[in-house]
Amino acid sequence: MSKPKVYITRKIDAKYLEPYQDQLEVRMWEKEEEPVPKETLYQEVAEADALFSVLSDAIDEDLLAKAPHLKVVANMAVGYDNIDLEACKQHDVVATNTPDVLSETTADLGFSLLMAAARRITEAADWVKQDKWQSWAPFFFAGSDIYGKTLGIVGMGRIGEGIAKRATGFDMNIQYHNRSRKKDAEERLQATYVSLDELLETSDFVVTVVPHTEETDKMFNQAAFEKMKSSAVFVNISRGKVVDEEALVHALQAGEIQAAGLDVFEEEPIEADHPLVGLKNAVCLPHIGSASVETRTKMIQLCMDNIAAVVSGKEAITPVS
Ligand code: DGY
Repeated sequence: MSKPKVYITRKIDAKYLEPYQDQLEVRMWEKEEEPVPKETLYQEVAEADALFSVLSDAIDEDLLAKAPHLKVVANMAVGYDNIDLEACKQHDVVATNTPDVLSETTADLGFSLLMAAARRITEAADWVKQDKWQSWAPFFFAGSDIYGKTLGIVGMGRIGEGIAKRATGFDMNIQYHNRSRKKDAEERLQATYVSLDELLETSDFVVTVVPHTEETDKMFNQAAFEKMKSSAVFVNISRGKVVDEEALVHALQAGEIQAAGLDVFEEEPIEADHPLVGLKNAVCLPHIGSASVETRTKMIQLCMDNIAAVVSGKEAITPVS
């Protein structure tokens, strides 16, 4: 009997797929960093029972209409704003994501960005690399303290809680805003629920972990940045589209806020000549929130386990639809 066919949209080392080889027939795009061209993807999904996608693949009506056998799309990310869930429903395709396994790693990255932006780490490291370091001076690369400051977390899900947990070690005053109150998190993490406006006005660090939806689209806009302290550091590890980047550039240039740490952008990959990349007070990373070897391994396993479950007629482990 022929095995269910899986197409993977990025090269993944064979060792991760070995446990599934008796059960599944796997084909993949053989390039690690280059996205699969649309025509190739459309040809491949015509035969596929399952698709293993990454967050930059658009899973939309166009693609699903070309995939008559498709039963499951396993997205290697916790976010799934690249997937048209309504179209999946219409085509009877289950969509899955990779929650939980990446929360701590992504929180690590969020806190690293917060620290890097506050203490001007990348700017200072570049100074040494460029052989510009000549002497020591009282305010040479002086940034701002983290210890004891007020942290505002927008979106208190698992990653938000991870950031709060780290902040307790820095004796930070933790406040958060979320669609619903999280009373248990408030107790566990000594976090205070505040309105979004209060959070923006009173936090020294504003970290956003909200998913990108119609409601959160460009929620960090000119009005939001104007409410923040001029000493505030803004960190985004969710999706670029929750920020109005033009407004952010203006806020950073005009000193409306002090600095930003950004792992995600409206358009990815961001071009090197984008105004944000050129700013000294912006630390820009290439969307590496969950990028540790341990976590990426777990994400691959979870995608493959979701696929194996659905194609064998079982419930998906982590469905989003
Ligand atoms: C995701 O998986 O959605 C996050 O962007 C982690 O980097």
